[in-house]
Amino acid sequence: DKMPVIQMQRRNSQFQRKVSIRIGERANYVNSPHVIAMVGLPARGKTYISKKLSRYLNWIGINTKVFNLGEYRRHATTAYKSHEFFRPDNREAMAIRTQCAIDALHDVCAWLENGGEVAVFDATNSTWDRRRMIKEIVVNKMGFKLFFVESVCDDPQIIEQNIMEVKVNSPDYKNMNTEMALKDFLQRIEHYEEKYMALDEKEESDLSFMKIYNTGEKVVVHKHEGHIQSRIVYYLMNIHITPRTIYLTRHGESDMNVEGRIGGDSDLSYRGKLYATALANYIHQQDIPGLRVWTSWLKRTIQTVATIPAPQERWKALNEIDAGICEEMSYEEIAEKYPEDFTARDQSKFTYRYPRGESYEDLVARLEPVIMELERQGNVLVVSHQAVIRCLLAYFLDKSAVLKQTRCSCSYCCEHSTTLCCKDFMRNELPYLYVPLHTIIKLTPVAYGCKMEHIKLPIDCVDTHRPKPKIPGTLEDKFKREKSAAIVTANHHDSS
Ligand code: ATP
Ligand code: F6P
Repeated sequence: DKMPVIQMQRRNSQFQRKVSIRIGERANYVNSPHVIAMVGLPARGKTYISKKLSRYLNWIGINTKVFNLGEYRRHATTAYKSHEFFRPDNREAMAIRTQCAIDALHDVCAWLENGGEVAVFDATNSTWDRRRMIKEIVVNKMGFKLFFVESVCDDPQIIEQNIMEVKVNSPDYKNMNTEMALKDFLQRIEHYEEKYMALDEKEESDLSFMKIYNTGEKVVVHKHEGHIQSRIVYYLMNIHITPRTIYLTRHGESDMNVEGRIGGDSDLSYRGKLYATALANYIHQQDIPGLRVWTSWLKRTIQTVATIPAPQERWKALNEIDAGICEEMSYEEIAEKYPEDFTARDQSKFTYRYPRGESYEDLVARLEPVIMELERQGNVLVVSHQAVIRCLLAYFLDKSAVLKQTRCSCSYCCEHSTTLCCKDFMRNELPYLYVPLHTIIKLTPVAYGCKMEHIKLPIDCVDTHRPKPKIPGTLEDKFKREKSAAIVTANHHDSS
């Protein structure tokens, strides 16, 4: 009864209500904040998994942030000298490392108290002592839920490949050449191996965890609780690190694009057909092994890939956003006939749902199975629509690459002036991402993210992009009837 009552005012996917609960009881709630603590030796993909998981959870609407202990350590120490720092008998360094872990956990808890939903604690957490300490702070003191994710990998080839891909370029090694950095990192791993204790279901039977062996060859799940943990397990079971490329493109220009009307199920225009041919030529030239082609159920995407000789699948989930009562209307007609709806959409485009239709938020939910299956696949060409590709891109892109200097405005980040907020990105930027017609977006996984290239094929087309107006509900000239949809020439926009 003496436990303090806190006001939890959190926006989470299930409940938008303010609830008063006791800290000690918090862990009993399904939607309590979560700490996901990574476990594993260095170069086992913990940072990779943390970042990817965070991108996924933010995309499905769960406010997630990664806290990387390496960054705390670099901040607390002067320039990295060598692996000696990580020797288990280096008492001075060990004290710094423990303090950094406490500081990071403090920030994790502060962020969760301020509206965060999932904090990923990206550290090796490779001893029982460390895991006990985490449980003590996260569960016993704060009442958050705790789930460990361990990456186990004993394939020396994967480990060396990982070191070469990301570690030799880490800030720790900015003053060492590649060969020295590789040697030093392998010695660092040896120091960790001396004390490493893998998660053990007998010794640590009270903990909830999953273990991923050799990049997903085998997965073990122990005492997972609730839907957030289930979704994390399911997601991490589906990802892989085999190199591949994803190509995204909208269908070729359609008759309704030319007329400036949204939605519908029209055929390709003459120029749209030229794009279909140009796309088939491009794909042929690339000679992509095992390519699979996915389209929506709508004619314009199916016609766009008609001559591509690769296995094809149709996904209803890839259909364009359903504009409900506004289907087949021009933006001008919507502004005239439903001015309140038109303005409301400009005010909150991500959450606005067309009457008897969908919102971007709905679209993200319907695309989750597509993303999950894309994660499992190799090379894929996805031919879909403007709003759908915006949602897919938002999943693949590092939001900072898109937002550049924009600062997050959630309470924790404002106060600490640190990171960008994914919630703001989804709401404000996603529905306005620029996805022009007749352009292929090539996504290649690199290091912790995705490289994005725009390949604009030289076929003229209309520009259907309607930027966010300064005054909600006002219509740009190019969407007014007398001008119909503005004709732009190919190469008008930068191709990179
Ligand atoms: P450190 O403890 O030094 O921070 P880390 O465990 O965080 O190391 P990462 O920096 O994430 O290691 O390593 C990135 C590399 O790991 C990438 O090249 C990625 O392909 C690879 N990787 C991703 N998932 C796994 C996995 N489950 N097992 C092994 N390697 C993986
Ligand atoms: O105009 C082409 C189109 O694909 C429409 O079918 C769809 O309603 C629209 O783009 C989505 O873009 P926005 O959300 O910007 O209106």
